[in-house]
Amino acid sequence: MAIMSVAAARRAEAIGRTVTVRGWVRTRRDAKGFSFLELNDGSSQGNLQVIADQSLSNYADEIASLATGSSISVEGEVVASGGGKQPTELKATRVVVYGGADPETYPLQKKRHTYEKLREWAHLRPRTNTFGGVMRVRNRLARSIHDFFQEDGFLYVNTPIITSSDCEGAGAMFRVTTLDLDKPPRVEGKIDASRDFFGKPTFLTVSGQLEAEIFACSLGKVYTFGPTFRAENSNTSRHLAEFWMIEPEMAFYDLNDNMELAERFLKRLIGDALRDCAEDMQFFDQWVEKGQIELLQGIVDKPFIRLPYTEAIGILESCGRTFEYPVSWGMDLQSEHERYLTETHFQAPVILHDYPRSLKPFYMYCNDDGRTVRAMDVLVPKVGEIIGGSQREDRLDVLEARMKEQGLEPADYWWYLDLRRYGSVPHAGFGLGFERIVQFVTGMGNIRDVIPCPRTPGSAEF
Ligand code: 4AD
Ligand code: MG
Repeated sequence: MAIMSVAAARRAEAIGRTVTVRGWVRTRRDAKGFSFLELNDGSSQGNLQVIADQSLSNYADEIASLATGSSISVEGEVVASGGGKQPTELKATRVVVYGGADPETYPLQKKRHTYEKLREWAHLRPRTNTFGGVMRVRNRLARSIHDFFQEDGFLYVNTPIITSSDCEGAGAMFRVTTLDLDKPPRVEGKIDASRDFFGKPTFLTVSGQLEAEIFACSLGKVYTFGPTFRAENSNTSRHLAEFWMIEPEMAFYDLNDNMELAERFLKRLIGDALRDCAEDMQFFDQWVEKGQIELLQGIVDKPFIRLPYTEAIGILESCGRTFEYPVSWGMDLQSEHERYLTETHFQAPVILHDYPRSLKPFYMYCNDDGRTVRAMDVLVPKVGEIIGGSQREDRLDVLEARMKEQGLEPADYWWYLDLRRYGSVPHAGFGLGFERIVQFVTGMGNIRDVIPCPRTPGSAEF
């Protein structure tokens, strides 16, 4: 007998077919002589209504007492629904019960729990409407990311997770070691990293960019899509210690090309989610963030604002608002400033570019003004920074000088410098935080609720 998903069995085309559907019981309602079971298998936001008649052999023993959370398989005919919102229902001819769920202890009963509470049950929360929807949107976005780049001639490259170089220079890296932490080998009082597994200090990567540049400078247009790790102690609704990043890197691109690509990319991702996750997006619009669909549609339809950092400072200084962090040229914009620009002043995504060089990592292209670099950050309402990128410094002498300025040893980056020594080209790229785009599309307020297993300071359950 054909096995069918709940999503497929809910469509009118399924009417008249005899199928098996398998999943978890959301609710059971009893009427005279039969029961309604709401069944969900993760394939759609909506449930399939199953009608189980008392003539079924295990009705009295099993079906009539089925609890929320139980797993079952149902054979039967898909029929036109007698009423209600969905076009179909399943008239059961056989119900097999796999596993029960004690209502005294199973946490996901009818009551709506807070997201904080659900984080404690991260292993069960995908069975809720919200997290099922988040995971389906996340999946759609991942697929669109590959589609977008593949259709545009980009090559997918996998950059290392264990690395000895610090790309962002922020020092927020997790150390990777096999040394005995209770008695590490020492020379002159310091830990002897030459006796570690790789013969030198190694870390979990904060970004695949430096390695992606190798492949852009040989294959043209590439992108990475992988996990990255940051040991910064920031307990915010937008930071994770382990998150996924998409990093395109393109030879012969300048900052304008980079901005154009970033805008086209984000619009494609949002447009695909609106079209292909319509039911889930309706759910988010209704239950998570009112007006979410309209906000996203507006972003797809309107051009992004492009604004030099220096002009942004001017706007913030003269806007009449008092910020917690006072504004002056050279400062790192805080989330309150970014959000003012994108949510209040422009009410649109803003690509801020040409930041002060003192704020940005060594690899960004230095402008002739001596004060700024060709950096760009894409800011969106509610989330703030969603993309960070730049044109890369492709001049050997300038790059070496910048490294020294930032206290880096050029010899440690000899291979990176070689890319400027042999056939150097202008190139550019950016990083999109995957969880930030999932957050932005779903409207979820906390980044911990858009990743399967959130890792944050003090928390890494299973
Ligand atoms: O701005 P970032 O630090 O840029 C880079 O790492 C560059 N190497 C990217 C490149 O040019 N190839 O990080 C890029 C994006 C941010 O805009 C943000 O969306 C996300 O990664 N991000 C985080 N997401 C979740 N938790 C964190 N702790 C994040 N830190 C950055
Ligand atoms: Mg950044």
